[in-house]
Amino acid sequence: MHRNKILPGFSKLNKNEKIEVVANRFNKPGDIIAELTSYWHHDPDKQKLFDEFSENTISNFYFPFSIAPNFLINNKMYMVPMVIEESSVVAAASNSAKYWSPKGGFKAEVISTKKIGQVHFIWKGEVEKLHALFPILKEELIAGTQHITANMNKRGGGITDVELVEMSDEIENYYQLKATFDTKNAMGANFINSCLEEFGLILKEHFAENECYTGDEKSCHIIMAILSNYTPECLVKTEVECDIECLRKAGDIDDPEYFAWKFEKAVRIAQVDTFRAATHNKGIFNGIDAVALATGNDFRAIEACGHAYAARSGKYRGLTEVKIENGRFNYSLTIPLSMGTVGGLTSLHPLAKFSLELLGNPSAQDLMMLAASVGLANNFGAIKSLTTKGIQVGHMKMHLLNILNSMNTTDNEKALATEYFAIHKVSYHSVTRFLSDLRTEKIETT
Ligand code: MEV
Repeated sequence: MHRNKILPGFSKLNKNEKIEVVANRFNKPGDIIAELTSYWHHDPDKQKLFDEFSENTISNFYFPFSIAPNFLINNKMYMVPMVIEESSVVAAASNSAKYWSPKGGFKAEVISTKKIGQVHFIWKGEVEKLHALFPILKEELIAGTQHITANMNKRGGGITDVELVEMSDEIENYYQLKATFDTKNAMGANFINSCLEEFGLILKEHFAENECYTGDEKSCHIIMAILSNYTPECLVKTEVECDIECLRKAGDIDDPEYFAWKFEKAVRIAQVDTFRAATHNKGIFNGIDAVALATGNDFRAIEACGHAYAARSGKYRGLTEVKIENGRFNYSLTIPLSMGTVGGLTSLHPLAKFSLELLGNPSAQDLMMLAASVGLANNFGAIKSLTTKGIQVGHMKMHLLNILNSMNTTDNEKALATEYFAIHKVSYHSVTRFLSDLRTEKIETT
């Protein structure tokens, strides 16, 4: 088969046919089919559910579903579900949670919950007219979307405002309708996009039918109508605080004053250096994404927003802040998090549903506070390791099993390696050497 040829109609094939097409690209198609089908759910109804989440599904891609216990947030203890493949993230979150719980845990607050959507349009006309008629247009927009907003209004949410944004100095004749929404416990993407697409139709009608507009003014080009994933006013803050002296108990810290000094420098470096800031923030998203995935939230949207927010000053910076005053260490994270606990995958994916149940069926605001706290916990763990013993010791310890699995080790070899590397430095090289010695009987096993 010629591999660069366009493959027509793949989506029209049934699942087995799709697998066959894929498997035929390999030398042993039978093995590939067996491998792919081995990850299907044994219950066909459950498998069908997973198949229908996306298109062209041929198998399931497993990720670990883990628990980080002991998260005390606003005086409530949580067992946090996390979905992440990177070794040591769950361990780091759990260690931080366990460290901070006896010190009062995480104190979190939701600052704002505004979601944003835009209709981008090109219109050629007298801008004063548009401004003068905007109050009428706004009423038309709100009234014309009532069939979409009725249910959300009943729940206390809906469209909270619509403004006209003039951007013709950037792009000729370019304007926006910029709307804000309160979507309550829903992430609200479908709701917002439906309102915005309707806004587009209403806007076109407004120009065509209002007799104040003449000539070219009677038409406009709707370029697109879509929510913005940048929601700087859907903001949550979480913080931890303790006496500097107490930091001694965070592990591997002999001199808490010196540790706090180094920690503060590390956080400052992420404020001033973009290369470091990206890695610093990545460590925060290790925790946030894992909670987002476990609860069926859109981690791409959350990340896009967080990184845009990190660059809001015109320079990309770390998202956390440290204050060291009067013998106290305070560490906080302020981050926009647009999350939902109803709709979308939250109730469709059985494990997302379970995660939310495990968390006591939180509101969207509770989940924002929780995810932010897990992000701060992971970042605290990372900065603590980086400024003390370094990241690799813990990381490689957790990574040991991955290395061993990549070398097809038996259970017995794994047990012996785990015992050996409890007191020896883990590296790919040292594990290979250990295994080779073990297999050539240079290491005695009694
Ligand atoms: C690794 O996934 C995350 C860290 O690199 C974060 C950091 O450097 O702050 C450890």
